[in-house]
Amino acid sequence: MTARRGILLAGGANTRLYPATLATPKSLLPVYDKPLIYYSLSVLMLAGIRDILVITTPQTQDAHRRLFGDGKRWGMQFSYIVQDEPRGIADAFIIGADFVDGAPSALVLADNIYYGAGLAGQLIAASNTKAGATVFACHVPSPERFGVVEFNNAGQAISLEEKPEKPKSSYAITGCYFYDESVCDVAANLKPSARGELEITDLNRIYLQRNTLNVQTLGRGMAWFDTGTPDSLAAAADFVRVVQNQQNLMIACPEEVAWRNGWMDNSMLTACTDDLKKTPYGCYLRTILSS
Ligand code: DAU
Repeated sequence: MTARRGILLAGGANTRLYPATLATPKSLLPVYDKPLIYYSLSVLMLAGIRDILVITTPQTQDAHRRLFGDGKRWGMQFSYIVQDEPRGIADAFIIGADFVDGAPSALVLADNIYYGAGLAGQLIAASNTKAGATVFACHVPSPERFGVVEFNNAGQAISLEEKPEKPKSSYAITGCYFYDESVCDVAANLKPSARGELEITDLNRIYLQRNTLNVQTLGRGMAWFDTGTPDSLAAAADFVRVVQNQQNLMIACPEEVAWRNGWMDNSMLTACTDDLKKTPYGCYLRTILSS
């Protein structure tokens, strides 16, 4: 199988925070001790994906390039493309079609954060699934803010709705999606929704209708944050601070994931620690090198 390609939708659009065009792009804001986008990037890396397309707004591409470069220092490959208008999340598979190039792929929204035991296993299983699509559902207090999945008594997904006024369940579809080779063709045939967007939920519904949508639920031990509001961004930062300090292990440290995946050797990791000097982040990388 051709290696799965990863797309990071960095966004900047539709944010309820201070506009990214006027300040630091939201995806680069620190969530406790590292940029928000590191959390979604780590999800792709935990799934074993090292070839990444970063989709930005015209205003924020340079800042993302400064952060990631070509990815070689992490044993990865980063490419960049601009989405000039927020035409919808599924647009990622139209502007990213050349990058995907007929391979299986995965998309993660840069404002999503995942953490919990068993996460890496669920991601690897999704990545190893050849046919259809895999998405992840999480029990939430306000499902009307999200794409919502309805299950039948046998636990099978039977409907998907984007931000329904009357949700048919409390399970939100989270912002991490794995697709087979056909996704760009499916996306190319989507029509804009009533709000004028190419909806990821409409794309997923086509897989559901074909009986090839695999909905994995995130269990009680898993935390998922959509950091779309100032409150949820602050809650995520608190969560990361408390868990990291309790365990003395970092959540979503791309250098650590790359090193543990065998994409970086010790000398490459040492070079990264030199760049980060005496920051707590750099000190952490030094401790994993000597562990
Ligand atoms: O977080 C999970 C939810 O993400 C799903 O449950 C929903 O089904 C899905 O539609 C999406 O809902 P949001 O309301 O969070 O989508 P939002 O418009 O806020 O966009 C999510 C991110 O993607 C955000 O960082 C902005 C970026 N984005 C969005 C659009 C529509 C783009 O980069 N380009 C776009 O065209």
